[in-house]
Amino acid sequence: MNYQPHNLLMRTINQRSLLTCFAIVLSTSLATADDSAPISFNEQIRPILSENCFHCHGPDQEARAADLRLDVCDEAVDYGAITPGKPDESLIVDRIYSDDAELIMPPPESHRKLTDEQKQLLSDWIEQGANYQRHWSFEPIRGEHDATKTIDEFVDAGKLGPPTYWRSGGDVLT
Ligand code: HEC
Repeated sequence: MNYQPHNLLMRTINQRSLLTCFAIVLSTSLATADDSAPISFNEQIRPILSENCFHCHGPDQEARAADLRLDVCDEAVDYGAITPGKPDESLIVDRIYSDDAELIMPPPESHRKLTDEQKQLLSDWIEQGANYQRHWSFEPIRGEHDATKTIDEFVDAGKLGPPTYWRSGGDVLT
């Protein structure tokens, strides 16, 4: 009998602290979801750029505007369009967030428009270092040897000869 009020009190406290913990965990994960989750170029960024930018800033030299290529990392960086780690110093961030119809990218007459979420993703991706992944066939070979080296680097280093370097999961493809 004596313990009942105590038990009740403890139960209330436990429920409260559980709720508080839950709230803290929830708010922390919401707060960090956008900032810290690594953004995938191939899955999240490439689709935005190819849908909205590559017609005018892509591989097609004839159609290329302002001599700016956004599909080749070095060119975009040399141009100053992208400064890895620094969205504030990246021309593309200025342009996608511009309120000026003359400056905003993509241009209004292209009838393309980025959503707020897409702008944020581009900016976060630059903040995370603007890591471009190349097409899967240029990705480093995984599993054997040094996983950070590309096929070309293996061949250059003379470590792999032509008959075996096209490997996929252990199968020799050539
Ligand atoms: C319909 C064609 C078209 C599309 C699509 C387009 N651009 Fe542009 N872009 C241009 C033209 C034309 C210019 C040059 C005129 C100007 O500076 O506004 C330009 C200029 C720029 C510049 C400034 C270059 C400089 O020298 O200052 C940046 C950065 C840029 N675009 C980024 C983008 C990004 C990022 C996208 C996609 C989100 C995009 N553009 C989509 C046509 C396009």
